[in-house]
Amino acid sequence: MLNWDEFNEDETAVADKPAPATPAPAAKAQPSAPADAGEIQEASGNYVIAEADRIERARKSLEELDVAAGLEELEMGAARIEVSDKQMINARADLNQLVPFKYEWAWQKYLDGSANHWMPQEVNMNADIALWKSQEGLTADERRIVERSLGYFSTADSLVANNLVLALYRLITNPECRQYLLRQAFEEAIHTHAYQYCVESLGMDEGAVFNMYREVPSVAAKSAWSLKHTQSLARADFNTGTPETDQELLRNLVAFYCVTEGIFFYCGFSQILSMGRRNKMTGVAEQFQYILRDESMHLNFGVDMINQIKIENPHLWTAEFQDEVTQMILEGTELEIAYARDTMPRGVLGMNAAIMEEYLHFICNRRLAQIGLKEQYPGAQNPFPWMSEIIDLRKEKNFFETRVTEYQVGGALSWD
Ligand SMILES: [Fe+2]
Ligand SMILES: [Fe+2]
Repeated sequence: MLNWDEFNEDETAVADKPAPATPAPAAKAQPSAPADAGEIQEASGNYVIAEADRIERARKSLEELDVAAGLEELEMGAARIEVSDKQMINARADLNQLVPFKYEWAWQKYLDGSANHWMPQEVNMNADIALWKSQEGLTADERRIVERSLGYFSTADSLVANNLVLALYRLITNPECRQYLLRQAFEEAIHTHAYQYCVESLGMDEGAVFNMYREVPSVAAKSAWSLKHTQSLARADFNTGTPETDQELLRNLVAFYCVTEGIFFYCGFSQILSMGRRNKMTGVAEQFQYILRDESMHLNFGVDMINQIKIENPHLWTAEFQDEVTQMILEGTELEIAYARDTMPRGVLGMNAAIMEEYLHFICNRRLAQIGLKEQYPGAQNPFPWMSEIIDLRKEKNFFETRVTEYQVGGALSWD
């Protein structure tokens, strides 16, 4: 709740808020009553007026405003928007009007994402700091996993955010989807903040961590693959509207939602969450748990966008294009397997590169099936069913069994 007393004393108070009556000092603790509805306050006039010349110039400039051109831009007098005017790409409908909704799934994800708000500082990192700084707290292989994970993710979420804001947003021509994209972009900022917060809390070498995406081959390969798929869309002269450019947009969606967020995150997430299940680096693991929950919604939103574009533009989804997209998802899977081998030269945390490979084959099948493509590793099993449980649970006793976590907004995370 806003406290009008505090608000009124602040210089950010705005004139059109209900002005409280000036409270007597003794009544300070009581909420002040708003002015009587029938009573009109007098302007004080007790302030300096802007220079007459400036006011004159402002008025002159407004006289020159070409209202007619502005109205043309907004198509004043055009028929009101109908749901049938809206489409995912290449829509000509006014993009400033959120309603009427066409894609309820997009609006619902915006509401769900907003209800899951969290901030990195709400997670207690004390046990992690002690463990990280103690000599015998973690094995060398476990430390490698923490370093590689923070190295990859600390820049990967920036790549995703930049793709959203600088490449994708402009080309998705639907207001309810854009509303979710804005929410997602903020979540990516929170994720980058979370990784920075972990790096800072643990006193890691920031330069080494944030440059890993350029300096460590298994990390760099994944980042380079993602970057390759944002470049053409990020060009100012790129536009959709032809089958070739519309397919290029679809390639970007597959590269970022199905592969980057849908495959490249899964080895690191399962390693760190496995560490948390073993009661090690529980603060880092808790941050990753929240991030994974957000990411699974990003992935599902991306899948919904791809499938909707396919429905509206069936001519784009040719046999040749399906083959190409299948190959992209296989490439992503191969890169993630290489990352698994690099981060786990030996068995660690009850996992090894071979079991991770099967997990990634299982994930690859899921990504292909979600956009209607044929599984390439039929029969691959999920060796980590607990990962699905973490993703699916919305409000649960968390898996460290030390806390009960509330995810709804309205206060800090609470636990007992
Ligand atoms: Fe993210
Ligand atoms: Fe994401």
